[in-house]
Amino acid sequence: MNKVLSKKQLSEEVYEMVVEAPLIAKARKAGQFIIVQTDLDWGERIPLTIADADARAGTLTMVFQTVGASTHKLARKNPGDCLPAILGPLGNPTHIEKFGHVVCVGGGIGVAPLYPIVQAMKEAGNRVSVVIGARTRDLVIFEDRMREFADELTVVTDDGSYGRKALVTEPLKEYCAGEPRVDMSVAIGPPIMMKFCVKAAAETNTPIMVSLNTIMIDGTGMCGGCRVTIGGETKFVCVDGPEFDGYKVDFENMMTRMKAFRGREDQDHHKCHLDLGLPPHPAPASPAAK
Ligand code: FES
Repeated sequence: MNKVLSKKQLSEEVYEMVVEAPLIAKARKAGQFIIVQTDLDWGERIPLTIADADARAGTLTMVFQTVGASTHKLARKNPGDCLPAILGPLGNPTHIEKFGHVVCVGGGIGVAPLYPIVQAMKEAGNRVSVVIGARTRDLVIFEDRMREFADELTVVTDDGSYGRKALVTEPLKEYCAGEPRVDMSVAIGPPIMMKFCVKAAAETNTPIMVSLNTIMIDGTGMCGGCRVTIGGETKFVCVDGPEFDGYKVDFENMMTRMKAFRGREDQDHHKCHLDLGLPPHPAPASPAAK
């Protein structure tokens, strides 16, 4: 059992939750994820990235978006409630070393899993430039936290309501074309954003890592839902990733596969199963927000 210690609503659909999980808090590394279950009977396994951890306090911070039945259920947990199971840390940690100048780009809720990477890259001695973006001002998250570790921070919004009116790809392109040279870049966000970040980095042959955690389902390597094509080979995000060389990712294939789950997710989140006391579907797992 993992006790919920605090819950904060960051925007209409995004929550930050701190939970007790001392062993995971101690062991986790940047880039890894956890599996959360809100109930053990028909409870879906929700793969969530770790936004932060405090090894001394034994706590984990998760940031998630309420996109389906299970994440809505998680959002209804309050301080003092318990989560029956948290499994982790899972997945391969981010490759961290002293590259030189690293540009970290996060879009939407992808800013949360980017945060431990920014910390780790800074602690490894890199100069770290951070770009975070959202559709609009209210959806910008983790700005203050990023400022603590970033050598430079650029905030962009699609509608220009806060920071610079731009897509995250624009500052990324500028960094890649400017000085000091960018030795490594990292992008985490919606697949379409990462696809265009790779395109932007390609203009200057800048290396780029992307995190494909949004496609995971059960996170164990058994369901096959996170199958992606990397450099022409089949890989599973939960066991081979979640991070990959951006140049090798077949984003078109990934986005097509993600669309296939959308109808099922809507069905599972239909009001009658949540609010009218009817039994939930004994349904196959469906993808959750990270
Ligand atoms: S999430 Fe099921 S195999 Fe990876």
